[in-house]
Amino acid sequence: MIEALRRATRRLKRAGVFFGHGTANAADDASALLFHVLGDAASAAALAAGPKLAEAFWHRRLTLKERLAFETLLELRISMRCPAVYLTGKTWFAGLPMHIDPRALIPRSPLAELIERQFRPWIDPARVRRVLDLCTGGGCIALACAHYLPTAKVEATDISDPALALARENARSLGLSRRVRFTKSDHFAALGKRRYDIIVTNPPYVGERELRSLPPEYGHEPRMALAAGKQGLDSVLVILREAAQHLASGGLLVVEVGNTETLVRRCWPRVPFTWLEFERGGGGVFLLTREQLERHVR
Ligand SMILES: C[S@@+](CC[C@H](N)C(=O)[O-])C[C@H]1O[C@@H](n2cnc3c(N)ncnc32)[C@H](O)[C@@H]1O
Repeated sequence: MIEALRRATRRLKRAGVFFGHGTANAADDASALLFHVLGDAASAAALAAGPKLAEAFWHRRLTLKERLAFETLLELRISMRCPAVYLTGKTWFAGLPMHIDPRALIPRSPLAELIERQFRPWIDPARVRRVLDLCTGGGCIALACAHYLPTAKVEATDISDPALALARENARSLGLSRRVRFTKSDHFAALGKRRYDIIVTNPPYVGERELRSLPPEYGHEPRMALAAGKQGLDSVLVILREAAQHLASGGLLVVEVGNTETLVRRCWPRVPFTWLEFERGGGGVFLLTREQLERHVR
């Protein structure tokens, strides 16, 4: 098996596929596909069952059926440039298992780390009662918030019906349906006057030129999950303009803007964004309090 994994890793490297949709390199990608074929739970159990069994697991020969299934996935990964996570249908976000398919963006936001820390040190988690995840996609951010802030009620919105359907499926699998409400909404439009202690969002933020230059793997993700107008700022603009009306006193707005960070800084030089740093990598995430939004954003 280890030989099959090495061969697959070399093949993915040679093929020049892009990594970054939930796997970071060729070895990760090949392992995700192989463990999917072998059964993730069985593989994890074998690897955790002590050095002898793990050694036996790594050196066993793949059956013909396993070889064929692995080969099919590798071929799809290379010829269609389909991200591995869409081929396996599952990933992890903030330590939680998520179903994923092309109805929604593949979860990979650095926000996972902040949610695992319960938004510390920016807010006292004990006082968080209501959280809004705007642009929820498959629900990863909303569901992680519900998991790590067990006393909070979470509302999650998206404009895409297919994404919301996937998010509801994930909520059911994680047993979180009762604390997370999913609402179809164009940004804040369907939220009335509701206010939240935290608004957290990973909205679309890719500009037209960047969109054209992205590797083919991104073409499998919903275009509306990425595209945000000419400069990539369409969603961010709405969020900056309207978030304050939906934040409770002392509330926080946390927004991922990825590579668009430079442009955001340039467009709003006087807004006192706090740009967050993450131990596990990634960036382009800013934080503003309601008071800062009210004072600076017009
Ligand atoms: C970058 S994806 C983020 C998905 C998920 N939150 C994550 O982090 O993996 C952006 C999401 O915004 C949604 N979206 C795009 N335009 C929107 C709009 N006008 N109002 C609400 N949601 C929108 C897309 O359908 C997509 O699910």
